[in-house]
Amino acid sequence: MNVELAETAVSAALQTKWVGRTYRYLAQIPSTNTLLREMVMTKTGVPLPHGMVVLTDYQHAGRGRMARRWEAPHGTSLLFSLFLRPDWPAAQATWLTMIAALAVAEAVEQVVPQPVGVKWPNDVIINEDGTWRKVSGLLLEGDMDENGRLAWAILGIGINVNVLPEQLPEAVTPPTSLLMAAGHPVSRLSLLVDLLARLERYYETAVNGQSPQPAWNRRLVTIGQPVMVSQVENGKIVRGIAEGTDEWGQLLVRDGAGTLHQVAAGDVTLRPS
Ligand code: ATP
Ligand code: BTN
Repeated sequence: MNVELAETAVSAALQTKWVGRTYRYLAQIPSTNTLLREMVMTKTGVPLPHGMVVLTDYQHAGRGRMARRWEAPHGTSLLFSLFLRPDWPAAQATWLTMIAALAVAEAVEQVVPQPVGVKWPNDVIINEDGTWRKVSGLLLEGDMDENGRLAWAILGIGINVNVLPEQLPEAVTPPTSLLMAAGHPVSRLSLLVDLLARLERYYETAVNGQSPQPAWNRRLVTIGQPVMVSQVENGKIVRGIAEGTDEWGQLLVRDGAGTLHQVAAGDVTLRPS
């Protein structure tokens, strides 16, 4: 059987040095993030390789942030996770979400004619006739070692590729797919190869000490917008204008009384005010 994203096809097409050079394809699994997480936790004595990619054609328990679901019909999308061992302080983990958002936004830009942006903190969106629609979501998970450094990180990426309008899920941020935006089917293999190359370049730039934050900040459509932030931890709601982000990617929101709030990605839901 000719499977578009199986090991042989992907390894023959890859343009990277180390990202995706260890690659596992599974026709269906609960979630690529969950599988990698289980692999890290199962101490076999053989460490998971930095840059390993697990990809599937269908997830029956695809996850977003805060136990939300990621839904994608069989064989239509890119659904994968990248395993990394960055030798970074844990506070710098947010750089990985920024790197992924930049790489996905650029790869998407190669195949659609519309503007492509980022909705803070973890969505890649396409502007179709004045409406920003979500084409991709990113899910970063990781663990810290005893020295406060990132022991490992799993970067989950979901992109709606050849999803028909009627197959898209109901969601607060309206969804779209590359098929809808481009007006024609898009090769998942070419998109994956291009995206992994961009991820590798952005990661290496960050390892060399250059923060992805300024470029990521320029992509954020959230800046200058009225926002409502509900903090999951304490139930508090902050309404204000998103003024920018700090070097760790926290959103800076000024409320009506002039107070500046620093909002971390982990514990909030962002909605237009
Ligand atoms: P959103 O504004 O989409 O809720 P968020 O970043 O606050 O963004 P997440 O925590 O990222 O939300 O949770 C994932 C959300 O994505 C789900 O609540 C769901 O509504 C939406 N979603 C699920 N599958 C898809 C998909 N294939 N395409 C677009 N959106 C999806
Ligand atoms: C979000 O929008 O909250 C993030 C969605 C992330 C979805 C991807 S699909 C591949 C990987 N496996 C998962 O279970 N989730 C991520």
